[in-house]
Amino acid sequence: MCGIVGYVGAKQALEVVVSGLRRLEYRGYDSAGVAVVSDSVLVTRKRAGKLVNLESLLGAEPLPESTTGIGHTRWATHGVPNDANAHPHVDCSGRIAVIHNGIIENFAELRAELSAGGHSLDSDTDTEVAAHLLEEAVERAGGSLADAMRAVCARLEGAFTLVAIDSRSPDLVVGARRNSPLVVGVGDGEMFMASDVAAFIEYTRDALELGQDQVIELRADSVLVTDFAGNPVEVRAFRVDWDASAAEKGGYDLFMLKEIAEQPKAVADTLLGRIGPNGELRLDLGLPEEALRDIDKVVITACGTAYHAGMIAKYAIEHWTRIPCEVELASEFRYRDPILGRRTLVIAISQSGETMDTLMAVRYAREQGARVLAICNTNGSTIPRESDAVLYTHAGPEVAVASTKAFTTQVVAVYLVGLYLAQVRGDKFGDEVRAIIRELADMPRKVDIVLDTVEPVRELARQLKDATSVLFIGRHVGFPVALEGALKLKELAYMHAEGFAAGELKHGPIALLEPGTPVVVIVPSPLGRSVIHDKIVSNIQEVRARGALTIVIAEEGDESVEAWADHLIRVPVCPTLLQPLVATIPLQVLACELATAKGHDVDQPRNLAKSVTVE
Ligand code: G6P
Repeated sequence: MCGIVGYVGAKQALEVVVSGLRRLEYRGYDSAGVAVVSDSVLVTRKRAGKLVNLESLLGAEPLPESTTGIGHTRWATHGVPNDANAHPHVDCSGRIAVIHNGIIENFAELRAELSAGGHSLDSDTDTEVAAHLLEEAVERAGGSLADAMRAVCARLEGAFTLVAIDSRSPDLVVGARRNSPLVVGVGDGEMFMASDVAAFIEYTRDALELGQDQVIELRADSVLVTDFAGNPVEVRAFRVDWDASAAEKGGYDLFMLKEIAEQPKAVADTLLGRIGPNGELRLDLGLPEEALRDIDKVVITACGTAYHAGMIAKYAIEHWTRIPCEVELASEFRYRDPILGRRTLVIAISQSGETMDTLMAVRYAREQGARVLAICNTNGSTIPRESDAVLYTHAGPEVAVASTKAFTTQVVAVYLVGLYLAQVRGDKFGDEVRAIIRELADMPRKVDIVLDTVEPVRELARQLKDATSVLFIGRHVGFPVALEGALKLKELAYMHAEGFAAGELKHGPIALLEPGTPVVVIVPSPLGRSVIHDKIVSNIQEVRARGALTIVIAEEGDESVEAWADHLIRVPVCPTLLQPLVATIPLQVLACELATAKGHDVDQPRNLAKSVTVE
């Protein structure tokens, strides 16, 4: 949330910064702004609204040439999204410009102190205090922006990535981070700093992973990283394993459509290299097998769509391993005094690896002595770095705010963890594990089949355009799928949508039904767990008897639902536990198409940001 980019090198900084902002816009789009230093003069441009507004401004009022610059795309926390609150913020002398991601929690007292000291603050943001504090500190530091940054960071409370430039140090960009993301891109005679590697991937794939409480001095040919006390620190270099084309729309109108279509490959990539020649699982979790055998409880924690992946995993993990598994919203986790210990395995699921709620849950769990395994999609991000172990999903960059391929791959990754536990602990016989792995390995093909057959869902979406409320119901793993379907509709189509455990409907929510209310029903396989299947078929009849318009997602060949479905969406036959991987896809398409039919911005829904780095 909030995208940050900084550049110093030989290119025109503005071009690099704006193209970086374009790739970071998923992080927030309430306003955008840039600053460059040219001939020892600081010049800024900023504008409320999406990046396109800033680009028009830059067309009307071009910036002078410069090879040092910073840029910001905002998700508002303090102060409404207007021009004045847009970043960069500049000190009284017009010498220093600063951009920020996070929340400076003690900003009110700092602001009062600065105002009393004669500073004039022009915005309602928490960020602006940093510009004025830097103004004072740089004088005290004899003109060193990096020393000033270290001094200022020591005074700030909360979470922040700050990046600043100073007209008197025209070849320098200084960054700092505490609890908000920042990575360095290392080029040939040029350097980058950004919230996410996507910002500089078209120029370099060589990156540096930064730690907490560090200050970075970036010059065209050098990077110096210190702690807040000024001691040099080592940082890990890594190479980004995808290229610029992966973060382009690649012929699709929307990132979301592209990412939905990428799911067969993304699921296959999550499995890649993790299945041995004899069909056994090979996971390099970085946790000793002894520790895995010792686990007596699993707690999954995550937010949003990742939380739904965790809810699904609970069914599988308990079924396969018989280890009790809890699922907890990361934002609630540390506030409810959870029971954790050395034998608890906490699994933190996060696409971005930067979600603040999840990061705080990870830290809390480790403080309590639990082992933490991160399931993450983003190399170099904070959550895996702060966890005991990590399993990457390898879904490739996900740009659309609403998560699609990250979700399906999270389900696969956490299933792999569950199966691996079962394999290591001997909770299941080897051939049982191998049989499930074979089914899992067949899922990319089945996901592909769903994608080939979703056209009627697009038509259905257009018909539902004027519905005021849509309900989703499911049982067992179909319940979190229902929640995910409803979340997608809220996020993208801004419609009232709710997901329910189908059996709960009669305990209250059924009162919501009016004639014609669309109810989407996720029906599990009639094979195997047929009790759940039969119960949900009864639930379809109950809602239909009350006038609901029934939209039924059911397996190919399941004839029992035909009489009760106003719309029938078929998915390939697969075991109940694996059905979420196919049943979610029509729901993603439904939300995407409905939002499109309503004229909404699908990739950048209102009020949302993809990577939520504040609590
Ligand atoms: C935000 C996004 C959601 C996402 C959630 C968790 O709320 O809008 O799409 O599911 O964060 O993100 P994470 O990166 O931790 O998976």
